[in-house]
Amino acid sequence: MYNLLQKALFQLDGELSHNLTMTGLKYTQHNLLAGLYRQNVAAKPVNVLGMQFPNPVGLAAGLDKNGECIDAFAAMGFGYIEIGTVTPKPQAGNDKPRLFRLPDAQAIINRMGFNNKGVDYLVEQVKSAEYKGILGINIGKNKTTEEQHALDDYLICLRKVYDHASYVTVNISSPNTPGLRNLQYGEALDNLLAGLKAEQQLLSDKFGKYVPILVKIAPDLTDIEIEGVAASLTKASIDGVIATNTTLARDKVAGLRYANEAGGLSGSVLTEQSQYVLSKLATVLDGSMPIIGVGGIDSADTAQQRLDAGASLIQVYSALIYQGPELVQNIIDSL
Ligand code: FNR
Repeated sequence: MYNLLQKALFQLDGELSHNLTMTGLKYTQHNLLAGLYRQNVAAKPVNVLGMQFPNPVGLAAGLDKNGECIDAFAAMGFGYIEIGTVTPKPQAGNDKPRLFRLPDAQAIINRMGFNNKGVDYLVEQVKSAEYKGILGINIGKNKTTEEQHALDDYLICLRKVYDHASYVTVNISSPNTPGLRNLQYGEALDNLLAGLKAEQQLLSDKFGKYVPILVKIAPDLTDIEIEGVAASLTKASIDGVIATNTTLARDKVAGLRYANEAGGLSGSVLTEQSQYVLSKLATVLDGSMPIIGVGGIDSADTAQQRLDAGASLIQVYSALIYQGPELVQNIIDSL
């Protein structure tokens, strides 16, 4: 079924086929047509971050940026769903075209630039979803917010999503918002994390519940930079880390159509790099905080390798586009 649909969708521009798919999911998720993608998956529970995940396979951020299709992704059997990246104010993102498929490499290049309808809209979507499972909300900053005021944007989002999220991801690793990745280093990182942790304390008192904060990092960090990030996360008592976002590297797609488009590269060509960063991070952190592995997970084997290297949970994005919901079932079955 997905094969046929995929053939048709792959004839179209990347973003158009994304939008058509999301519209399809949005308008079928609450009726019988959801049976087309509903999957009954085995229970493979994982206890981490103070919660029991029904299975360790999650939807990565960026596919459902506005939280409009939560019930559809839940029907596919995901153990948890991460929505966003959301910003305080709605924003259009970068000029189109900004999403490119490289099918020979099972890869995607995107420079969407946090196109989203804003945090208030996302919260309304969460409230109207039927889903009662584990929901991560991934937060970012508006493009027009100066780098030195980034914390303000993250705080606005954190306050608004806190009561509606199972965990909150702080995205400082998108390559498509100028300056965002600078927040991964030194004092800028320490100040950001300290501000977020202080607010988490206030919110946890206010709402009477503790919502973990995770930080999502880039795969383009050097070993020394990974050690620096790990030290900052530990010092700030951050609850977990997500490795990794998309890469700026292009060596694995050199010569392919669209390879030189600006943006972040994801998919099967990212497997090795994300696996490396995760392994390095796991060694440095030595079990002190949970890690979610993401980047080029495209099979039961690559999922298992990530778990073996120290990930407690994993996420998929690009391989879901290439393989469809069956990927989720295949991975869960094999665990
Ligand atoms: C992403 N990703 C992403 N990540 C994030 O934290 N916030 C976001 O808004 C987005 N947006 C986004 C859009 C598109 C089109 C893609 C392909 C990816 C990154 C994503 O969550 C994931 O970290 C990477 O894509 C690596 O995983 P895969 O795709 O190789 O499984």
